[in-house]
Amino acid sequence: MKTVEQIVSQKSKQERISMLTAYDYPIASFLDEAGIDIILVGDSLANVVLGLESTTEVGMKEMLHHTKAVVRAVKNAMVIGDMPFESYQLNPRAAVDNARQFIEAGCQAVKIEWFEDCPKVASAIVQAGIPVMGHVGLTPQTAQKIDGMKVQGRDVASARAIVNQANMLQEAGCFSVVLECIPKEVAQVITQQLKIPTIGIGAGPYCDGQVLVIHDLLGLFTRYQPKFSKKYADLGPQILEAVRQYKEEVTSGKFPDDAHSFHLPQDEINKLSE
Ligand code: KIV
Repeated sequence: MKTVEQIVSQKSKQERISMLTAYDYPIASFLDEAGIDIILVGDSLANVVLGLESTTEVGMKEMLHHTKAVVRAVKNAMVIGDMPFESYQLNPRAAVDNARQFIEAGCQAVKIEWFEDCPKVASAIVQAGIPVMGHVGLTPQTAQKIDGMKVQGRDVASARAIVNQANMLQEAGCFSVVLECIPKEVAQVITQQLKIPTIGIGAGPYCDGQVLVIHDLLGLFTRYQPKFSKKYADLGPQILEAVRQYKEEVTSGKFPDDAHSFHLPQDEINKLSE
């Protein structure tokens, strides 16, 4: 398993960090085999797997269930558990207890999104010996409060606020920070200022690493496609075609054919028919 030290050292060695989300065993196996550095069990589980509207609709139970499936598949990557809404915002003690559950489920670290008391909570989790990845810019769990799901930091005042937040999270002991949906110039300033790696999503090329939601990358989530995410494969039409073909063959009796059936030896058939 990749360690925090290995991930952090990639910044000084200028080795870009690859990170993707996964929520189940088969996809996590592929990501691990492909050599992805970090697998995030994201709370985007809510949208892309469970068909919910908002990430605020998943809790610890769902997140841990999917985390355990991912952990079973992974041999090399670092697995990070995305702490769900209200599992860390309410008080630092509850945050530490919930973070520990992700570690007990097999994660190496947890991720938390920026909110007012984020540095205090991050620091409490780090003090408990649990590595924390921060998350600033667009923070979906509180997006309604920060002017919706849109690009953040588009003027000097809000850009400065995000730069400060990232610095505060480094101070609090975070080993890395996700920068979501901010102008690339702001991401560049943060990446240059911080000693810890930045991981961008919709934050341009000047980050130390990149993350995408795996369902966007594979074309498996069609409800909406964020501008920043790139579709590397379009599996939706392939799935549709395979399932249509199956239905057609079942309806026509073409499937299952002899090659997909089990056979009884002739003498047993004879006995059976007696
Ligand atoms: O849950 C998620 O998908 C995230 C993104 C930053 C990748 O938090």
